[in-house]
Amino acid sequence: MKGIVLAGGTGSRLFPTTRGVSKHLLPVYDKPMVYYPLSVLMLAGVREVLLVCAPDDLAAFRRLLGTGAQWGMALDYAVQQQPQGLAHALALAADFCAGEAVWLVLGDNVFYGAGLSGVLQQAAAQTDGATVFAKQVADPQRFGVVAFDADGAPCTLQEKPANPVSDWAVAGLYCYDPNAVRWAQTLPLSARGEREITDLNRLYLARGKLRVCRLGRGFVWLDAGTPESLHRASDFVRTVQHAEQRLIACLEEIAWRQGWLTRAQLAQAAARHANTAYGAYLAQLAQGKSPS
Ligand code: DAU
Repeated sequence: MKGIVLAGGTGSRLFPTTRGVSKHLLPVYDKPMVYYPLSVLMLAGVREVLLVCAPDDLAAFRRLLGTGAQWGMALDYAVQQQPQGLAHALALAADFCAGEAVWLVLGDNVFYGAGLSGVLQQAAAQTDGATVFAKQVADPQRFGVVAFDADGAPCTLQEKPANPVSDWAVAGLYCYDPNAVRWAQTLPLSARGEREITDLNRLYLARGKLRVCRLGRGFVWLDAGTPESLHRASDFVRTVQHAEQRLIACLEEIAWRQGWLTRAQLAQAAARHANTAYGAYLAQLAQGKSPS
């Protein structure tokens, strides 16, 4: 499977901070925001990733992430000239996907929880249809929302509804069969002038091909797109990392555990991050001194 990180958009909810820099390059505590969604794709076993960004940010993303070879991955880039919606950004990936199934993750979303890899692998094992992830939230008006019928099957999808039909928000992580890119290309523009991911998901729902994986207690999903939520995400990462003495979204660690990097390469990565807590963590791992 392939993977796409959406890191375009204007970041207008973080103005003035994001007038000069993509929000996805801002720190969530000790690493750039984009590391977190990228780590999710890596945990799903995805090694070929396309990052979609705004034209002005391409050079900075290339500087930060390069070819992906440092994680045993292949990273490519696509420019979205205007922020015309999540499904529009997906449609740009037609050549990259080349008829394969694809994961799509939003560049400002953070996921955390024991067993996350297993949940992702289960979704990826389904070859037909789409899987989305839902979490109960206090403010569903801010998100895509899904409601379920008496049998627990998804029955309604709304995008940022004034009157939400449920408190289940659709998180920014989607696993699609090969139809998605083609369908995304044909979606009409919504009232706010975007090609909406929720409209794409509705096509799957209408065909009975939308699975919704409910993230229960123990799974944390954060959207870091506003000053308040960015601060909370940083706080969360700092607290959990300190309590667990492990890093969240340490890309070299994940690549090494996936068998994409050798221990020697891990040690080289540690050297590249010398004089930082991140580098010290990598050095510990490379020396076999960390918990398994
Ligand atoms: O965070 C989950 C929510 O993300 C979902 O519940 C909603 O259904 C979905 O529409 C989306 O809502 P947001 O209002 O949070 O989307 P936002 O415009 O913030 O964009 C999400 C990410 O996608 C962000 O990292 C920027 C990127 N993006 C956005 C647009 C509109 C692009 O790369 N291109 C775009 O055209």
